[in-house]
Amino acid sequence: MDKILVTGGLGFIGSHTVVELQNEGYEVVIIDDLSNSSEKVLDGITAITGKTPIFEKLDLKEKSKVEAFFAKHSDVKGVIHFAASKAVGESVKEPLLYYENNISTLVYILKELRKLPSAGFIFSSSCTVYGQADELPITENAPVKQAESPYGNTKQIGEEIIQDTCKVTPSLKAIALRYFNPVGAHESVEIGELPIGVPQNLVPFITQTAMGLRKELSVFGEDYPTPDGTCIRDYIHVVDLAKAHVIALKRLLGNKNKANYETFNLGTGKGSSVLEVVKSFEKVSGEKLNYKIVGRREGDIISAYADTNKANDELGWKTELSLDDAMSSAWKWEQKVRSK
Ligand SMILES: NC(=O)c1ccc[n+]([C@@H]2O[C@H](COP(=O)([O-])OP(=O)(O)OC[C@H]3O[C@@H](n4cnc5c(N)ncnc54)[C@H](O)[C@@H]3O)[C@@H](O)[C@H]2O)c1
Repeated sequence: MDKILVTGGLGFIGSHTVVELQNEGYEVVIIDDLSNSSEKVLDGITAITGKTPIFEKLDLKEKSKVEAFFAKHSDVKGVIHFAASKAVGESVKEPLLYYENNISTLVYILKELRKLPSAGFIFSSSCTVYGQADELPITENAPVKQAESPYGNTKQIGEEIIQDTCKVTPSLKAIALRYFNPVGAHESVEIGELPIGVPQNLVPFITQTAMGLRKELSVFGEDYPTPDGTCIRDYIHVVDLAKAHVIALKRLLGNKNKANYETFNLGTGKGSSVLEVVKSFEKVSGEKLNYKIVGRREGDIISAYADTNKANDELGWKTELSLDDAMSSAWKWEQKVRSK
C-alpha cells in the first residue's frame, strides 16, 4: 500500500487521520517535533489500529532535515500537512514565529515534492480564510477576506503558495481542506485533543471547566444577531474530518481530481450557537456547566457554517457523527486524561 507522510501526525487532527489511514491499509510515516503533542499519542494510535506508524521526530523548519527525510523516503506518494502553530492570539503577539513555522515548513516540503515523479498533497486550511462571510452557508466560492490574524494569514498565503506551485508542477496535485470547527475525540478515547495550557477553543474549555480545572466558562456576548444572541460555528467531529482526508487523498492518488489544485469546505453544514454547545454538553454528560455571559470579544465573527455540497457531491463524503456524539466523546476523553 502507498506510503503517506503525515506531518503533525501526533497532533489532534493528525492522530485521528493516521488512524483512518492505517485502517485503510496505508503505510504511514509521521513527522512531528512534539512542540504541541506527545510521543505517547503513538501508543493510542497503536491501541486502536494494532499498528505503530513510523515516527520521525523532526522540526520541519530545519530545511536540511526535510531534504534528508525525503532522500530516505523517496517512495512517499502523498503528504498530509497538518504541522503548524495554531493559536490565533499568540500569532498576534508573535507574528514572525507563525510566518516562520507555518510558511517555511510548507515551502520546504513543496520543494521536495516537486522532485518526485508524482505526488498528492493535502493542506490543512481553515474557514478563517472567509472571515465574516457575506452569505451563509459559506461556499468555496465565497471571497477570501483580509485575514484577522497572522495565523489566518498563514492559511491564506499557504493556499496561494500551493496554487502557484501547482501551476508550474504538473506532477503535483493538491487539495486545500478548509476546516470549520473540529471537536470531539476517537470513540475508543485512546486519542483526543490535548491542549497545552489554557484551551483556546470552546469544547476543551467546557470539558476542563466541568472537570474543575477552570473556574467557569466565559460566553463572549449574548447580543449578536443570532437566535439566542451567542456566536454560531459549525462544529465537526474530528473522526468525520479525519475520514475526509483519506477520501481526498484517494481522489488525488487515483487521479480523480478535476484540477491540480482544489479546495473543499469540511463542516457539517449546521451552525450551533455557543449556548447550544453548552446545552449539548450538559445533556450528554449530566453535568451542570458553570458559565457566565460576559461582553463581546474583539475579532469574533458572528456566524460561520459550511455549505457542504461540494464536499458531499465531489468527494462523496458526508458527516456521520453529531454534536452530541462529539461532546460525549470529548467528555469521556477529558475524564480519561484527568484520571491518570
Ligand atoms: N484545530 C482546529 O480548530 C483547526 C481549525 C482549522 C485548521 N486547523 C489546522 O489543522 C492543522 C492541525 O491542527 P491540530 O488542531 O491538529 O493542531 P495540533 O497542534 O494538535 O497539531 C499540530 C502538530 O504539528 C506539530 N508541529 C508544529 N510545528 C511543527 C514543526 N515545525 N515541525 C514538526 N512538527 C510540528 C505539533 O507538535 C503538533 O503535534 C494545523 O495546520 C491547524 O492550523 C486546525
